[in-house]
Amino acid sequence: MKFFIDTANLKQIEEAQALGVLDGVTTNPSLMAKEGIKGEKNIKQHYINICNIVDGDVSAEVISTDFEGMIREGEELAALHSQIVVKVPIIKDGVKAIKYFSDKKIRTNCTLVFSAGQALLAAKAGATYVSPFIGRLDDNSTDGVQLIEQIVQMYNYYEFETQVLAASIRHTMHIIKCMEAGADVATCPLDAILGLLNHPLTDIGLAKFLADYKKVNG
Ligand code: E4P
Repeated sequence: MKFFIDTANLKQIEEAQALGVLDGVTTNPSLMAKEGIKGEKNIKQHYINICNIVDGDVSAEVISTDFEGMIREGEELAALHSQIVVKVPIIKDGVKAIKYFSDKKIRTNCTLVFSAGQALLAAKAGATYVSPFIGRLDDNSTDGVQLIEQIVQMYNYYEFETQVLAASIRHTMHIIKCMEAGADVATCPLDAILGLLNHPLTDIGLAKFLADYKKVNG
């Protein structure tokens, strides 16, 4: 299972990269805005900065909603760095754009996916990744992890190569459940990744080991 960090914050990306377990980064226009990154030139430079920190894939989202606009933006984003994956929403022109990019060997992350039907279209169009938003489904009284299970099962059955990228992860237990469901990737906030470290028995055990060592060695 690959770990992506879901942020545009360079400090957090550096911290996750330093941990040695990071496989990539996902961003979206809201995450870029949160960091105060604005203007086409600055946004593009920020993507390059992220690529220079991590070794893996970096999702950069188009903001156009028409086919021509998505193609223009996506080609520009993909040209920025070999690690860029063009993030495209699952709308009609988005599906056409994913097919276009797939034919051109430009990698894509199909975003804003909330149903198995949408995930089927993304895979048929040749998306590299599909991003079901599990937290937002949970927020709306729908089991997000169940959707991951459904998509994993469908992709395995039909041998689609599209990777299931569990997105909108809110906490550590989401990561565990996505792992159990067979997601290929989980894109997580830094807190959720670090949360995997937590166990009181680890803290108690370590304190005891160190205290026992001190008793004998001073
Ligand atoms: C990442 O690809 C998604 O854009 C992100 O996980 C959405 O997360 P949110 O639902 O917490 O905004």
